[in-house]
Amino acid sequence: MAIHFLENKQQFILNTKKTTYAFQVLRNRYLCHLYYGKKKKDILPYQEQVLNFAPYRPEFNDAISPDFFAQECSFFGSGDFRAAALRLCGSDGTGVTDFVYDSYRIFYGRRELDGLPSARVDENTETLEITLYDPVTNCRLLLYYTVFESEDMISRYMMLENNGRSKVEIEKCMSLTLDLDRSDLDMISLYGQHCFECKYQRVPLHHGIQSVFSRRGASSHQYNPFMALCTHKATETSGEVYGFNFVYSGSFLNEIEVDQLNRSRVLMGLGNECFSYILEPGECFTSPEAIMTYSASGFGQMTRNFHKFIRAHILPPAALEPHPVVLNTWEACYFDIDEKLLLSFADESKKIGIDMLVMDDGWFGGRNNDCAGLGDWFENRQKFPNGLYSFVKKIKARGVKFGIWIEPEMVNPDSDLYRTHPEWCLHVEKRIPSLSRNQLVLDMSNNDVIDYLISIFDRTFNGVDIDYFKWDMNRHLCDVGSIMLSSERQGEVAFRYMKGVYRLLNWFIQRFPNALIETCSGGGGRYDLGMMCYGFQIWTSDRTNPYYRTFIQSSCLMAYPATTMSCHVSKPKEGGKSLDYRYKVAVGGMLGYELNILEMSNEVKSEIAKQISEYKQFEHLIRLGDYYNLVSPVNHDYSAYYYVSEDQDEILLTLIEKADCKPGKTKLLNIKAALPNATYTDVFTGKQYMGADLQRNFKLLLSGEKCSAQLLYLKNITGR
Ligand code: GLA
Repeated sequence: MAIHFLENKQQFILNTKKTTYAFQVLRNRYLCHLYYGKKKKDILPYQEQVLNFAPYRPEFNDAISPDFFAQECSFFGSGDFRAAALRLCGSDGTGVTDFVYDSYRIFYGRRELDGLPSARVDENTETLEITLYDPVTNCRLLLYYTVFESEDMISRYMMLENNGRSKVEIEKCMSLTLDLDRSDLDMISLYGQHCFECKYQRVPLHHGIQSVFSRRGASSHQYNPFMALCTHKATETSGEVYGFNFVYSGSFLNEIEVDQLNRSRVLMGLGNECFSYILEPGECFTSPEAIMTYSASGFGQMTRNFHKFIRAHILPPAALEPHPVVLNTWEACYFDIDEKLLLSFADESKKIGIDMLVMDDGWFGGRNNDCAGLGDWFENRQKFPNGLYSFVKKIKARGVKFGIWIEPEMVNPDSDLYRTHPEWCLHVEKRIPSLSRNQLVLDMSNNDVIDYLISIFDRTFNGVDIDYFKWDMNRHLCDVGSIMLSSERQGEVAFRYMKGVYRLLNWFIQRFPNALIETCSGGGGRYDLGMMCYGFQIWTSDRTNPYYRTFIQSSCLMAYPATTMSCHVSKPKEGGKSLDYRYKVAVGGMLGYELNILEMSNEVKSEIAKQISEYKQFEHLIRLGDYYNLVSPVNHDYSAYYYVSEDQDEILLTLIEKADCKPGKTKLLNIKAALPNATYTDVFTGKQYMGADLQRNFKLLLSGEKCSAQLLYLKNITGR
């Protein structure tokens, strides 16, 4: 059993393989957090303390105040002055609630999240449900803890039921609260922008509130929902690290408050700025799921916990199968595509071992540039005179699979859809909505819009043999207003928008069960666990330049496994090492190409053919192996990392040189995951290495050349 209730101590204990999480019911009323960290047997009960100015209940003494004990969920207005997890406004208009412990239940499986994506469980997964009750609003609050033992992961989500006679408004909702009895920590977050996602930031916590967030209606390029806290000296292999993430793709808030007692409150959820929600009597609301993990041995362990968890419980099972090596038309042709051209692409693709041709933007409606056509999801007959069905049949006859680009959530004002239904875009009455990339956002909170999209995609793709959809989203949400909701409910639009997107994604999965979905939002604008529940990989960034990609991919890997990263080789310079460098950076993740195959010399084509067949020998390590980050590109002239198979028999090591170094310089790289008693051979050069040397004394010679990379594929040959 992973979850226990110790009756005599009134303690709930949640154990994973290496961690323990504990809290206590205080005076049969409060939930007091006790411990989260390394696995531990005896957990100390709450130590009473008195603090002036702290409010306490008349029936209790002043040793218990919500102002200073660590909470499992914090409520606004009833004595806890720190940042609240839940702010609920009932008919008294005050926002004050005081939820009291009522009961608990432990069960196998999990609670479904009412149209939201969530982590998959198996028959052994346990969930703890805690019921709280607020007598004035007559609301029940159910807190859920689902325990993923082998990945050292615990997830949190909540459900609110309005059993009263009046409506209540949720004004702030945070799925996860973690009160840590310390503040000697650094906060790690990934910020960025379009074309430069996942920049690494590490800063010490300070008193007051620090936060990262998105108000963009998408998880965003600007701040990824992943966040970690670590001890000041934590490294890849040592120190304590707490990691967090959110299974949601819209606006979010990650908030940390360091309080008067030098403790840190971590909150993760929908927040309060871009979210509110009215519950009528009898209605329920379920929050998205947040996850957390703990590592006592540095970032590497946290990263591997996330990777294992995401592969086992978040990604669709197809993500664990070999991913097709695609040739994407975007950087090759942009909007300038037609049947004849793409059939030639397919012919050439087949010759060099490409698995799938992906037809990107430009195939539908009046889409000749980014000013028109979004929303008109039928093939452009000038470009595809024989229709999509016949075109795709011809592609397939050439022996390659077929993928197609869509951007369902958007509309150009210059489109038939907008001309027929201008009211279907997000907008606010009497205001003209802003454009971004010449497009408006469809109101995905409106079921009529989703029904329309279902019907048009159903018709256009009916019978067409599509293996893959690239689902894009190329702007953020502003002027967030919907004609479907009353003025008091407009705060619900962004959340309902996300639920509409998830509904449509679910429809795609059911309607096209054999097709994969790659998600994308101008690259990594929705690189989150919500999207990963539907898509087998994500287009990591619109920046395909390998120099910058090295940074983006390295930070992305901190939180997400390589199997989620779609990485393309684009526009190599003829001659030199450019193609080789691009390839060796791209095989940090799932390899693809994005270049004009018709303009390539035979030399380049045969080089690509060689790359693809080489990649197929070791891609299982990237897709399923354990990832070890040796040297980050952020503070060094070079970076290095490796993937290792579960049995430790195979290792794929990459070393990337960013800047010119002195030639002849060697770097010590300790491949700790090598088997000490094994002999490994480099598959490419035949050179042999002892496992013990790889672990402690492996020196790699730098080429000294800026923008170059080396790949070593090591196999255990002991006894062979
Ligand atoms: C976004 C994507 C690109 C491409 C274009 C098409 O920018 O990230 O890969 O699909 O849209 O318009």
